Amino acid sequence: MTTRNPESILAVSQTDPCLADKARTLAAKLGLPLYNVEEPTPALLLTLTPERLELRQTTKGAEGPLFVDFSGGAIEYRRRQGTSRKEAIARAVGLKGGATPAVLDLTAGLGLDSFILASLGCTIRMVERSPVVAALLADGIERARLEPALAEIMARISLMVGESLEILRTWQGERPEVICLDPMYPHRGKSALVKKEMRLIRLLVGDDQDSDQLLAAALGVASRRVVVKRPRLAPALRGPEANFAISGKNSRFDVYLIAPLP
Ligand SMILES: C[S@@+](CC[C@H](N)C(=O)[O-])C[C@H]1O[C@@H](n2cnc3c(N)ncnc32)[C@H](O)[C@@H]1O
Repeated sequence: MTTRNPESILAVSQTDPCLADKARTLAAKLGLPLYNVEEPTPALLLTLTPERLELRQTTKGAEGPLFVDFSGGAIEYRRRQGTSRKEAIARAVGLKGGATPAVLDLTAGLGLDSFILASLGCTIRMVERSPVVAALLADGIERARLEPALAEIMARISLMVGESLEILRTWQGERPEVICLDPMYPHRGKSALVKKEMRLIRLLVGDDQDSDQLLAAALGVASRRVVVKRPRLAPALRGPEANFAISGKNSRFDVYLIAPLP
């Protein structure tokens, strides 16, 4: 795994002195330095504002800021239009005929795929290994839970911070019906296919190099199917061949069947 050492490029800051204590607590929890104006500015700042937690890039031509917002922008548009069970991700997970399987998302990231599945009725457990990405996601979840329009969807979503391989290795209790994974793909440069959010996340987490092992472990734990999201033209993960694939505009979902959904 080439997860970067975030302390070297990242510090915690705040935009309002009232948030100084909160920033100190967050920095201690994540093992990150507090931003010190007298020292060179790190490439990234995890910044507390009165509204939310943001990841800010400080370099020239910066992207950002990055934050999780389940009630704004494209995701809200999609929710209002009624996320469709005909979407590629919904078909890949097997949401036909009213099925709403319990899903374990091993690569939570910013939680967008999980949110779509939760808005279609699935119960979702997400796992994210980067404590910084998980903090951004937890902040978005917390804010969304306060929104009456999203409360029902958010009640179906939970987040664990940790290594998915370890979580699968020590899995106990009922097996998840569907396991999803969407590891970082080693795109290079500013490809139009790579959203700015993912470019920033890549700066933090690097490439996910345990994806093949994750697929093998997922196939041993899921009770019904494993779904792997890939860029549309990317090779499949190494391992058994997928039973079928469903392609969307930019992505492809490789589906590995274990047992039929009820
Ligand atoms: C491409 S992003 C996922 C994007 C997500 N599908 C979304 O809709 O926002 C991949 C994320 O999975 C996390 N990840 C990758 N491998 C992991 C593992 N083995 N355990 C836990 N998290 C992992 C990475 O840290 C990264 O945040």
